[in-house]
Order: sequence, then structure tokens, then C-alpha cells
Amino acid sequence: MKIAIIGSGRIGGVLGKLWTEAGHQVRFSSRHPDSLDRLVAESGPNASRGSIEHALAFGEVFLISIPYGSLPAFGDRYGSQLSGKIVMETGNPYPERDGEVAKQVLDSGLGTGHWSALWLPGARLVRAFNSVWDRTLAREAHRTPPRVGVPLAADDSGAAEIAAGLVRDAGFDPVLVGPLSRAREFDVGTPVYNTNMSGPEVRRALRLPEAGMAS
Ligand SMILES: NC(=O)c1ccc[n+]([C@@H]2O[C@H](COP(=O)([O-])OP(=O)(O)OC[C@H]3O[C@@H](n4cnc5c(N)ncnc54)[C@H](OP(=O)(O)O)[C@@H]3O)[C@@H](O)[C@H]2O)c1
Repeated sequence: MKIAIIGSGRIGGVLGKLWTEAGHQVRFSSRHPDSLDRLVAESGPNASRGSIEHALAFGEVFLISIPYGSLPAFGDRYGSQLSGKIVMETGNPYPERDGEVAKQVLDSGLGTGHWSALWLPGARLVRAFNSVWDRTLAREAHRTPPRVGVPLAADDSGAAEIAAGLVRDAGFDPVLVGPLSRAREFDVGTPVYNTNMSGPEVRRALRLPEAGMAS
């Protein structure tokens, strides 16, 4: 699969490497693509790099992993090009980094699924990977089961299934939580956030069946 990474920092960098190792074609992107040469070299022949525009033209599936405070402006500028595309989005609202955007999200109580969908209208959006620390992703990929659980929320079940496959390919256990409105159950500050829980532990904590998406 052709995966375009927008925001090739800690999360985007680790996941992109894991996906190249799994045989996917990964294009890392940046506002300064020259800065990605080392990451591309470390990621092997399935990796390439380019501008955000190059990534938008390349991807069948997208990972957006940028500071949450920058997502509204990103959506204004590029959102129309992501309409109809599968987009996994990882951002978390931290007021000290993301300012008013984070305060708005946290004060609303609606959760990130609501807000990310508002800023990326038309995308087949999946909230993914936001609750797992980048070092956990780097250290625990493909560990002996039970693997680390990665909660996912999406309104589009086809997009959720493809994202779940990419979670497996990266070496983790996808936990399909439900529609985007349930993304708040694994947002920052929830009991499953940054805990290193296994998939079965996440399912128990979120009162989900052992496998499959809750209704
Ligand atoms: N680190 C974690 O453990 C972790 C875990 C789960 C979720 N998250 C969330 O995932 C997101 C990314 O986290 P991270 O730790 O990977 O951050 P990071 O290391 O700072 O990487 C973020 C990347 O976003 C790009 N970026 C910054 N501002 C941008 C803008 N206005 N428009 C487009 N691209 C922009 C930067 O790339 P260029 O400057 O090269 O363009 C940067 O490489 C954050 O929302 C974070 O809260 C982080």
C-alpha cells in the first residue's frame, strides 16, 4: 500500500519505518523535505521523501501526525485534497503547545474525533495511534503477544478495517472502539492513555468485546 506521512516527527518517523519494514511504500513529507534524508536512508528502499504536496499526490492512505493546534489551518489549506481518502490522524490537544485549539477541544468535552472530523471534512477519518507513546511504538512493535493495543475510532468501517490492518502490520493489536464520537474514550487523560496496555487490557478497560467493533 502507498502510505503518505504528513508530519514525519517522532510518531510519523517510527510508524513509517515500521510500515516500510512490512513492505509498504512510504513517502515521508515535511515542510522542509531535505531534513528527512537520514530518516529515508534508515527506512530502506521502500521509503521516499517529499513536500506535503508530493505526499498528497502519492498516498492511498495517509497518516497525519502534526501538532493538534496546527490541524485547523492544515485542514483549511489541504483538506479538500483529502476528501474521500483514508486518513489516520494522531494528534492530541495540549494547551501548553496547542493554545486555544486545545482549550476549545478540552472544554467542549466532545473529544478529538468530533474536532478532527470538523477540520478534515470529507476524509475517511480514523483516529489512531494517539494514545501510544512513540517510544512504546519503537520498542514494543511485534513483541510476543499479547501485543500493545492501539485504539481506533472511525465512522467509516472500511477505513477502520484498513487502518486496523496497518496497525497489525506495524506490530500492534488494533482495538476497534467504535465511531468517531468514541475517540474521546482514548483521548489524553483517559485511563487507557499512554499506559502500554495490551490489546486485551484495552478492550477490558473500554468494556469492548474481545474482538470486533462495538455497536
Ligand atoms: N510523541 C508521542 O509519543 C505522541 C504519541 C501519540 C500522539 N502524539 C501526537 O501526534 C502528533 C505528532 O506528535 P510527534 O511527537 O510526532 O510530534 P513531532 O515529533 O514534533 O513531529 C511533528 C511533525 O509535524 C510537522 N509539523 C509541525 N507543524 C506543522 C504544521 N503547521 N503543518 C504541517 N506540519 C507540521 C513537523 O514537520 P516539519 O517541521 O518537518 O514540517 C514535525 O516533524 C502530536 O499532535 C502529538 O500530540 C504524539
